[in-house]
Amino acid sequence: MANQGRILLSLLLVPFLFLLLLSSSPSPSQPDPDPQALDPTQTRLPRRSILASLKSDPLRARADLLRKQASDHAALAAAYASYARKLKLENSKQVRLFADLSRNFSSLLLHSDPKPGSDPDPDLLRLERSVKTQIRSARLLVAEAKDSFDNQLKIQKLKDTIFAVNEQLSKAKKAGAFSSLIAAKSIPRSLHCLSMRLMEERIARPERYERPETKPELEDPKLYHYAIFSDNVLAASVVLNSAVANSKDPSRHVFHVVTDRMNLGAMQVMFKLKDYKGAHIEVKSFEDYTFLNSSYVPVLRQLESANLQKFYYENKLENATKDTANMKFRNPKYLSMLNHLRFYLPEMYPKLHRILFLDDDIVVQRDLTGLWEVDMDGKVNGAVETCFGSFHRYWQYMNFSHPLIKEKFNPNACGWAYGMNFFDLDAWRKEKCTEQYHYWQNLNENRTLWKLGTLPPGLITFYSTTKPLDKSWHVLGLGYNPSISMEEIKNAAVVHFNGNMKPWLDIGMNQFRPLWTKYVDYDMEFIHQCNFGA
Ligand SMILES: *[C@@H]1O[C@H](CO)[C@@H](O)[C@H](O)[C@H]1NC(C)=O
Ligand SMILES: *[C@@H]1O[C@H](CO)[C@@H](O)[C@H](O)[C@H]1NC(C)=O
Ligand SMILES: *[C@@H]1O[C@H](CO)[C@@H](O)[C@H](O)[C@H]1NC(C)=O
Ligand SMILES: *[C@@H]1O[C@H](CO)[C@@H](O)[C@H](O)[C@H]1NC(C)=O
Ligand SMILES: *[C@@H]1O[C@H](CO)[C@@H](O)[C@H](O)[C@H]1NC(C)=O
Repeated sequence: MANQGRILLSLLLVPFLFLLLLSSSPSPSQPDPDPQALDPTQTRLPRRSILASLKSDPLRARADLLRKQASDHAALAAAYASYARKLKLENSKQVRLFADLSRNFSSLLLHSDPKPGSDPDPDLLRLERSVKTQIRSARLLVAEAKDSFDNQLKIQKLKDTIFAVNEQLSKAKKAGAFSSLIAAKSIPRSLHCLSMRLMEERIARPERYERPETKPELEDPKLYHYAIFSDNVLAASVVLNSAVANSKDPSRHVFHVVTDRMNLGAMQVMFKLKDYKGAHIEVKSFEDYTFLNSSYVPVLRQLESANLQKFYYENKLENATKDTANMKFRNPKYLSMLNHLRFYLPEMYPKLHRILFLDDDIVVQRDLTGLWEVDMDGKVNGAVETCFGSFHRYWQYMNFSHPLIKEKFNPNACGWAYGMNFFDLDAWRKEKCTEQYHYWQNLNENRTLWKLGTLPPGLITFYSTTKPLDKSWHVLGLGYNPSISMEEIKNAAVVHFNGNMKPWLDIGMNQFRPLWTKYVDYDMEFIHQCNFGA
């Protein structure tokens, strides 16, 4: 099933780009119609001949503009495809039609190579006509799909209500790791709805969300910089809202939000919708960092290797749900580039000396500028340690039967946590930590050193360069441990919902959820529309 979805997704992307290159309206104030306007009765088609208009405009600027609009639409298409998968519509009419449509576009693409500037010959005119027909059909499809998705959302709402009644019972079942893993893996419909609504807004009003030219603050090493890498627009907004609300002088703080291409538009809109009291926000996609390619990044190279693809995606859903023990290892999240970005901070932010890394499942409860005053003793990574007794020691995270691990590390060394890490980027550069990480990540191609995640390579990379921070900076476990003391939580600068029971899921723990919902913008129109809260 997952395989099918991925194929569909990639099938969708190429033809949509093509479709939009040919169909986008040339004026930025008149963007391609957003899906809200995809009502079949008012389908708008390019008013001028594509070929005629190509000749009269400066080609380069035009092409750039079209490419921009195309990539927005491609992201929206990807969102729909992924949404369809999430709703388990794999075998439904819609998915078949989308696939059919994309095949049609692909074959059109195959038989065409329109050269801008060349005279419109009969072949090209024919092509233009068939593209128009396909566009009309595409718009109908999207409009239809949207209706059906909205109905699914209503059904889900009903189910959620029923679910709430049975919560007590379900909680008992969910104590088992299995069902909570399932729930943690599946993104709730409301979240999907939110990112699509934001994406649609992005497309409807591109002029409002055009990327601003680089502000000097974004690179000013005298300010307080944060890195937040996330594909969850609501979670990221809670991190920012809480950090801004608790900072003494927001204008001294700079938030670097990095997401993937699919969520970029939604994030851009989310962080433009309200005022952050002067805090500076940069929204980028990790694809913007071109140095992060498979010739440099071992994880990307490994992702591309056929072996790993097989390991992660070939196992079909039926088998995956039977295989609880191994399921964790199959979650593509553990390989996502977004997760491994944390190992490239010095190169992503070359002008900065220090940066605070925040996971998207945390909430900030105090002004954090005190961290910039901590004496790092020349260390690279400021983190809270997590070991107690024999728990959370290095031997639990990596394979000490492997001679290389055995030789280099003490099995009883204390583990620490990601989630809130203060990085001294100058020390990082000096200690060549990225090279260290590359060395070990390359050795782990066949996963004999460690199995999954970013913590083991982190523990390895920062083995002798971690500075333990006072535990009140970062209190962990709100996503799995119901017995954390409220006193400890109250005193924490940052609380972390690590674990499967995320506060945005219905399995989140009720006693902790208010710490998070406190910072959700429930009065925001888009959040309303998608049935959050209530
Ligand atoms: C794809 O093309 C075929 C043949 O031209 C047509 O019958 C079919 O309706 C098209 N599919 C879609 C989804 O437009
Ligand atoms: C890949 O990254 C390296 C450096 O990390 C860079 O020199 C190279 O130009 C990049 N390649 C592409 C295709 O962007
Ligand atoms: C599930 O696993 C079994 C045994 O490994 C295999 O024969 C079967 O094809 C798998 N089913 C799917 C749908 O992949
Ligand atoms: C694992 O990878 C290493 C280095 O890439 C290689 O030498 C070794 O033979 C591999 N082991 C297995 C079991 O594939
Ligand atoms: C641990 O490393 C040893 C030695 O390379 C290897 O034989 C073994 O399979 C590894 N264990 C796991 C769980 O990968």
